[in-house]
Amino acid sequence: MTLERAAGLFRATFGVAPQAAASAPGRVNLIGEHTDYNGGPVLPVAVAARTVVAVGPAPDGLLEVISTRDGALARIAYREANPGSWGWALYLAGVMRELRAVGAVPDGGGARVAVASDLPAGAGLASSAALTVAAAKALSLLSGARLDPRPLAGVAFRAEHDHAGVACGIMDQMISALARPGRALLLECASLASRHIPVRARLLLVDTGVRRDLAAVAFNERRAECDAAVARLKLELPELVWLASWPAAWLPRLKRALAEPLKSRALHVVGETARTRFGAQLLARGRLKQFGELLFESHDSCRQLYDCSTPELDLVVATARRAGALGARLTGAGWGGAVLLLVDRRREARVVAAVQRAFRRAFGREPPVSVVQPSAGVRRERLR
Ligand code: GLA
Repeated sequence: MTLERAAGLFRATFGVAPQAAASAPGRVNLIGEHTDYNGGPVLPVAVAARTVVAVGPAPDGLLEVISTRDGALARIAYREANPGSWGWALYLAGVMRELRAVGAVPDGGGARVAVASDLPAGAGLASSAALTVAAAKALSLLSGARLDPRPLAGVAFRAEHDHAGVACGIMDQMISALARPGRALLLECASLASRHIPVRARLLLVDTGVRRDLAAVAFNERRAECDAAVARLKLELPELVWLASWPAAWLPRLKRALAEPLKSRALHVVGETARTRFGAQLLARGRLKQFGELLFESHDSCRQLYDCSTPELDLVVATARRAGALGARLTGAGWGGAVLLLVDRRREARVVAAVQRAFRRAFGREPPVSVVQPSAGVRRERLR
């Protein structure tokens, strides 16, 4: 369906058929929040909702982009400096530049791009990573280059980080590129070592509907705090490169060395790192009750130490816990977005009803609840 919409938009806009297409999914992180850019582990799954990118050639240096969401055609000279007016096309300009750097730019040097997606934007499901990963795949197909999932994730990451100026970590692009159906990805973000872990669990997503512009500002502020914590901790341990590598046994020393708020931020990162590695083992063994306890702990840490929660997220987590969910936590950057629930099927209806009732009473509306189906990563889409 989404493929037909992207290909149809391409034909309607450019008057010719697209020559290649690819799709990539959004993600939900099970545990390991704000650890990726600190060199720690993450444990995301890809969701079923995907972004499809259909592409064709264009004259050198020219990028023409359109999406079903924003029906206006943007024509940009993607090799020139970014003017503020490029909007979301900036992500695609970044992809083109990065593909150039790895010798996988489409023949002719330019491209036409049409995008369709069933991922909601701004809901904390990493829709921008789905866009850049799918675009990197489709555009590299146009060049005839075969880029494996990891180099694709690298192109997508640098497009967002270096060109679109979002100080994100590597989690979203890696899961969008490497995901397997029914599996979570344990990714160590310092070494990029990864392992696929079967998910035999009922997972739900509660979207609080809170979209905060504040998120980008607060996110960059947290990153700066983490860097400042590393700079200070290097006086204790000169070899320290990543905050997540601080030895868990040295927490008293960390507490003595850092003042607030750096102390709280660092305690979150070190604690979340241990929880995520342990959580991956529990999930692999199907120990869902203990895994769920770690999800609650992770949420408390995000709320109290990393200060990235909201009243809406907290209400959903607390209500789900009282109603018998095995685990619940905010997922993604925080400051809005969605809550992940881990439930026993026998308690599912009760938990969902309790969450919706409490949310309606507090905020006057019912949050949408959906099932998380761990899905496949980036793939080529065959055009008919
Ligand atoms: C955002 C970033 C990710 C990660 C999460 C927090 O989604 O894009 O790289 O840092 O926040 O875990």
